[in-house]
Order: sequence, then C-alpha cells, then structure tokens
Amino acid sequence: QELKFNLEQIEKGGYEHFMLKEIYEQPNAITDTYRGRLLAKEGIVRMSGVENHKEKFLNANRIIIVACGTSWHAGLVAEYIFEDIARIPVEVEYASEFRYRNPVITEKDVVIAISQSGETADTLAAIKLAKQHGAFVFGVCNVVGSSIARETHAGAYTHAGPEIGVASTKAFTTQITVLTLIALKLAKEKGSISKSDFHYHLEQLELIPEKVAKALKADDHIKEVAKTYMNATNCLYLGRGYNFPVALEGALKLKEISYIHAEGYPAAEMKHGPIALIDEQMPVFVIATKKGHYEKVVSNIQEIKSRKGKIIAIVTEGDVDVKKLADHIIEVPETLESLSPLLTTIPLQLLSYHIAVLLNKNVDQPRNLAKSVTVE
Ligand code: G6P
Repeated sequence: QELKFNLEQIEKGGYEHFMLKEIYEQPNAITDTYRGRLLAKEGIVRMSGVENHKEKFLNANRIIIVACGTSWHAGLVAEYIFEDIARIPVEVEYASEFRYRNPVITEKDVVIAISQSGETADTLAAIKLAKQHGAFVFGVCNVVGSSIARETHAGAYTHAGPEIGVASTKAFTTQITVLTLIALKLAKEKGSISKSDFHYHLEQLELIPEKVAKALKADDHIKEVAKTYMNATNCLYLGRGYNFPVALEGALKLKEISYIHAEGYPAAEMKHGPIALIDEQMPVFVIATKKGHYEKVVSNIQEIKSRKGKIIAIVTEGDVDVKKLADHIIEVPETLESLSPLLTTIPLQLLSYHIAVLLNKNVDQPRNLAKSVTVE
C-alpha cells in the first residue's frame, strides 16, 4: 500500500494531482505533437498519414468528424479551421448519435475519428459504420496501438503522453494541434491559403508552447478568482467563433470535476434563452480575445452587466475595453484567431481545477466518470 502511494507520488512529479501536472505539461506536449511535423523554416507540414492519402482528402465531398466528450469539442474547433483555411465542408457529430441515425455516408466522404484513449465504444462503432459505407477513415488518437488506431485506414497520433486525470486537458490541446496541422497541410495542397499566410500560421503555431507557458503564469491569480466563485451553483460560459467550442469545453471541465452546473453557449445565442438566468448570483465566463468578433463580444458583456451578472473575461494581454466592464479579467498572449483556443482553454482548465480542489472534490477521479468509456 505504502509502495503504491509512493509510486503515485513519483508519477505525479511533485504536483498534487495528475490533472494539474497534465495542465502544466501542455507546452511540452504541444511541442511533442508538432515535432518533426511542423517545419516552419522550410514551410512544410510533414504528416505521412495525410500525405499517403492526400487524394482522399482533396477529393472529399466533405469531412465528417466523429467523437465524444472533450474530443468532440476538439472536433468543433477543427470544423472552424478546416472550413476557414482549407475550404472543405465539415460536419461534427457525436459518435453515439451518428452510429444510430442511419447517416448518409458515401465513398466520397472522409471521416475523422478523434479519441484520446482510442477505446471509446461509440466512436469505434461509428468508424465501423463509416467503413461499411466505403468512407475513408482517419484517426486522431493519443494511445498508440489502441483499438481506434488499429481500426482506421490511417491516422496521426497526438503524442501527448499518458493522460491519467479523468478530465481531459493536454489531450484536448494536442488534438487541436494535430487537426490544425492537417488543415494547414490540406490548405497548402489545395492552394486555398496564400503562401505568406501559410508561413505565418506555421510560425505562429511554433510559438504556441511558449505562449501556453505564459498563460500558465496566471495560475495564482486564477486561484483567487476560483475562491470568489467556488460556491456558485450555476455558471455560464460564452464564446464566439473559434472560441465557442472553448466555452463548451470550459463548462464541461467545471461540471466534470466540481459538480457545479455549467453551460457553454455561443455568445450571441445568449439572448435566446440563457440571458433569462442572469442575475447577481450568476458568474459568466466570457472569452473576449482581441481577434475574432471582439466588439460583438464586448456588447454581449454589456448585456450581462446590465443584468448584474458577474463577468470573468479571458482577454488578450493589454486589453482595456473589457477590463472596464468585467469583475475579473484573465490575460492570455496574443495569437492568430485560429490558434487562440490553444491559449484560451488554459485558464479555464486551471479555474475548474482550483474550484474542485477548494471544494474538496476528487479531481483526478470524479464520481460517476470513467477515463475511457468502452461500453455503451
Ligand atoms: C470520457 C472521458 C472524457 C473524454 C471522453 C471521450 O467521457 O472522461 O475525458 O473526452 O470519454 O474519450 P476519448 O478517449 O474517446 O477521447
């Protein structure tokens, strides 16, 4: 028993929980993900799994992404970047819905299955169905040699290293990294991105690990914010564009480990329902970075303020406008809008972590949840 305990301490590498360790591993994990793939100076994205099946991707009518949980959120981010720069239509589906709704799948479809564990039963079943209908299936997995990695025609590993905490953190950011690389590679092949834009994206992606490290430096401040809101019973998370899926993921993280009810919403949809819930008891976490619908998000923040909601905003370093309106701000470094989810996610992970710790919850093994769901 004692030996097991000590081993676990060693595995946690000085961190109190696996989740915190994994949050802090993200700069290295993202670097490991793009190592050998992102060649910024040469202007190349090297990914053999995509290269060998280039025609499948380039001739596809559409890409269908299937996944569950956090991996599904990574799929939503990918939808934005694939459509934005590679101009390929994308649909993102919950694997559990896709597999049972008699979907239209043809040989001209490419299915991308995203799964940290590579063992999720619904995702595996969705892959089998897609294959029966002749689609080309590409896997984005973390666990090498997993069932999904073996069942797919080709794929790319995230190389995030083992993720032990049930709430997914580094798996999410590395999935987004892989999917971004794929989108960039296809955009270049298609010519849907200019040469200079392509190079700029590569350079900016290469800088992400050090910017994640910088975002992590807000940890002490985030802990203070967590203390202020730890007793909330409901929270709302808002974001637009590329950061809409980040809002969903932020809410999921809070639900999973602190058992506080939270909802993620596209900021502009607030007026079609959630705004009715806003009062002085309601913390609203808003992603309001400079690039991407900034003014519109600022006006959403004004609407929350006039209903006395508490505003905690994730902003770009040096922001002034939102600072005037928000109760708390948390800064992240500036980057391209398309890469911003890799940074805006970080404070939301830390916030959930600290709230759960403050509430004395079992952070690494939350009740009723499993790391991989191998049954329906
Ligand atoms: C479970 C885990 C989540 C994960 C989801 C999908 O619900 O608790 O963290 O996002 O399964 O898992 P996968 O391994 O397919 O990414």
